[in-house]
Amino acid sequence: MILVTTAGKVGSETVRLLQERDVPVRVLVRDPAKAAALAGAGAEVAKGDLDVPATIEDAMAGVSAVVLVSPAVPAQELSVVASAARAGVEHVVKATSKASADSPIARRRWQAEIEAGLAASAIPYTLLRSNAYMQNVLALAPAIAKTSSFGSAAGKGRSGMVDARDVAAVAAEIAASPAPHAGQTYWLTGPRPISNYDVAAVLSGLLGRTITYRELTFEENKDAMIRAGVPEQVAQMNAQAFSLTADGDAEWVTEDVPSLLGRPARSFGQFASDYAHAFS
Ligand SMILES: NC(=O)c1ccc[n+]([C@@H]2O[C@H](COP(=O)([O-])OP(=O)(O)OC[C@H]3O[C@@H](n4cnc5c(N)ncnc54)[C@H](OP(=O)(O)O)[C@@H]3O)[C@@H](O)[C@H]2O)c1
Repeated sequence: MILVTTAGKVGSETVRLLQERDVPVRVLVRDPAKAAALAGAGAEVAKGDLDVPATIEDAMAGVSAVVLVSPAVPAQELSVVASAARAGVEHVVKATSKASADSPIARRRWQAEIEAGLAASAIPYTLLRSNAYMQNVLALAPAIAKTSSFGSAAGKGRSGMVDARDVAAVAAEIAASPAPHAGQTYWLTGPRPISNYDVAAVLSGLLGRTITYRELTFEENKDAMIRAGVPEQVAQMNAQAFSLTADGDAEWVTEDVPSLLGRPARSFGQFASDYAHAFS
């Protein structure tokens, strides 16, 4: 049995792909109604909360591997690691980012803290260090649909954006056959680095109207996210990441997705075409 913690962008697709492979899978969610489609396709749904260790403990029964993907709050994910160690789990696949203990971005420091806790647990594990998810662009979709424009503090910076479905495909592949991946760190990206001007050009071509990209300051970008409903702390971390992107921080691409999956990583064009309905 594989446990996937949360059914967000990566978790839900990981569960779906494991089901497709007939691998028994359980998903921990706060609200089972949100996982109804996964349950309907045969996944076990464990109602739980990462802030409530007893619910993690219940979900861990009979589990051989864990796909650890959640908002990366150290207390929550370290509870999962501790529970997995007690249950004798044989492998953890951890979704992470450019983690660093001295990053200016709190989320990357939290990831480093979680990674250190995982390393100290003695459970064999694999790190999936992903570049920005293409699905982040979906947060801009309502503004794009309404105003045919979007803005960011990423300036002209390019990013090796990866489709979260490819991150999920890698997570499912490793969770299903973990042994060769123990101790490995994979850097997951799309096929090429692209800027927001490229994003605007792809969306313009796809939607048949001009989509304009505006370069924003850090404060403008943070305020826009807060106005769109993003919690202040998350808006701060996102705007920091975009500002670093402007300076080249995300301009990295690897061959890890194709070499692990035996097929090319999805391009932004493929992503946009699959999600076109969200932008129109
Ligand atoms: N976005 C990026 O560009 C990017 C890039 C690299 C790495 N990452 C990493 O990827 C991970 C996030 O993955 P994702 O984008 O797939 O996540 P996501 O789509 O944001 O989903 C997070 C899920 O966590 C659930 N959740 C939140 N608090 C919970 C709690 N207390 N107990 C149980 N479930 C809870 C949410 O469920 P509810 O529906 O109940 O709220 C939601 O389904 C993070 O580690 C992040 O740093 C992200």
